[in-house]
Amino acid sequence: MNFSQSVPQPSNNIHCAEEKPRACGMVIFGASGDLTFRKLLPSLFSLFANGYLPDNFFLLGFARTQMRDEDFRQRIKDKLSANVSEAGQALDKFVELCHYQADDYQDAQAYERLNHKLRQLSRRYDVQDNLLFYLSMPPSMYQPILEQLGQNGLLDEGGEQSPWRRVIFEKPFGHDLPSSRHLETVLASNLKEEQVYRIDHYLGKETVQNIMILRFANSVFEPLWNRRYIDHVQITVAEDIGIEHRAGYFDSTGLLRDMFQNHLLQIMALIAMEPPVSFAADHVRDEKVKLLNSVHPLNPGELPEQVVRGQYSEGRINGEPVPAYRQEEGVEPESMTETFAAMKLFIENWRWKGVPFYLRSGKRLAARASEAVIVFKEVPHSIFHPLESEDLQANTLKMRIQPQEGVCLGIQAKRPGPKLCLGNLNLSFRYEDVFQKAAIDAYARLLLDAMLGDQTLFLRSDNIDIAWQLLTPILEDWRQGRQSSLPLHFYAAGSETGPEAADNLLNIDQRSWLPYT
Ligand code: BG6
Repeated sequence: MNFSQSVPQPSNNIHCAEEKPRACGMVIFGASGDLTFRKLLPSLFSLFANGYLPDNFFLLGFARTQMRDEDFRQRIKDKLSANVSEAGQALDKFVELCHYQADDYQDAQAYERLNHKLRQLSRRYDVQDNLLFYLSMPPSMYQPILEQLGQNGLLDEGGEQSPWRRVIFEKPFGHDLPSSRHLETVLASNLKEEQVYRIDHYLGKETVQNIMILRFANSVFEPLWNRRYIDHVQITVAEDIGIEHRAGYFDSTGLLRDMFQNHLLQIMALIAMEPPVSFAADHVRDEKVKLLNSVHPLNPGELPEQVVRGQYSEGRINGEPVPAYRQEEGVEPESMTETFAAMKLFIENWRWKGVPFYLRSGKRLAARASEAVIVFKEVPHSIFHPLESEDLQANTLKMRIQPQEGVCLGIQAKRPGPKLCLGNLNLSFRYEDVFQKAAIDAYARLLLDAMLGDQTLFLRSDNIDIAWQLLTPILEDWRQGRQSSLPLHFYAAGSETGPEAADNLLNIDQRSWLPYT
């Protein structure tokens, strides 16, 4: 039974606050690449079409591929008109704001040309020299680009932050703790922390932000949000896709770095952190760091009880046969790279002591679904003889991140019929049923926030560092190759839960993974 048939209506009591950013220009390094056309340009266009971009704005794409402004604009049009429904005239206006510079990232003179061009564009569009740079580049390019920008004065801010200069960085933030620390020294020697915007696009998802709203804009959950009432927490980020055409990146990265170091630990931090003093960037980020600092470090001797790694073998997704990971184009035939990981973590503080957090993520699982489930404790005593308390299903609060974004509270309820007739019932709400307005895309949210100077949904350097510290024992264990204490378990592509060992992680605690929907 599902109460969602009677769709709750949004009330008039809605508080929406969205500022419009001040005039600015944006420069994308790596402008001819996949991310630019797949995510950045559609997001910028949707901001433009919805009136969220500053009135005075321009975009400059910078990349090695030879193109003139007209070619760049045509590519944008071709790409966006195929995928964006509201294209039309707005798209013509949007591409007029787009410019392009074909140049070499390593050539010092390219940056003089860039500086010159930016001065011209800044005057033409009257953006008061406010500049947002987006580095859609491998981390090895950060240093040369930042140094050149710095030498040309393009990272200098004025007094009172006017003009402002900000730089957005894409993950991966290093490959491990030492490389991440090295990267941070590069950033710190060229920029102030207030100028650095490290993207974890999960934080830009409405439903991830809703974790904070649900917890801290309601009073019903907080009294229950602790070890007294919560049995355990499950976080799942499942994907049915494989590695697409990213073998070059993925085979040397693996799922732990790709998904856990950022997305899963961030979701866990939002679920478990203490209430921040306010929704201001550093208050939220302080609490997340404090929480991640409280995670009990993984002990090398105990890894087999807490961590599982897996890799998909061939199988079927939606009835179609798909190859094994090792047969994917560009993947080493003996690759040990994990496409699945699961782990059990404990948080050592008064709120969570003894409550396991089970996290899992994998490629080529049965479906695409990201969700976090709070599993409450069973009732302490059943008055419904002959039912025992363990016969009554424990309450669950499921936060659905995607797809079918929403929230679902599982409760026990009386069923029509005999006097003692009860069962599980889902009080569930889906964004798409309730709100006509489509959610603002994660990248659009984050680009807008960077223009607004709001770092709340971006990662701070100490956050990145602590996440790497947590994963280091696992990475070190895996580095030992055959001596590793964590075998690579295979699972058939299309399986719901990944390798059997991931089930055992919970079974040993008399628990099991809840199906994701
Ligand atoms: C990215 C990972 O950060 O997130 C990808 O690099 C993954 O491997 C993607 O597929 C998942 O994002 P989403 O928004 O589709 O859940």
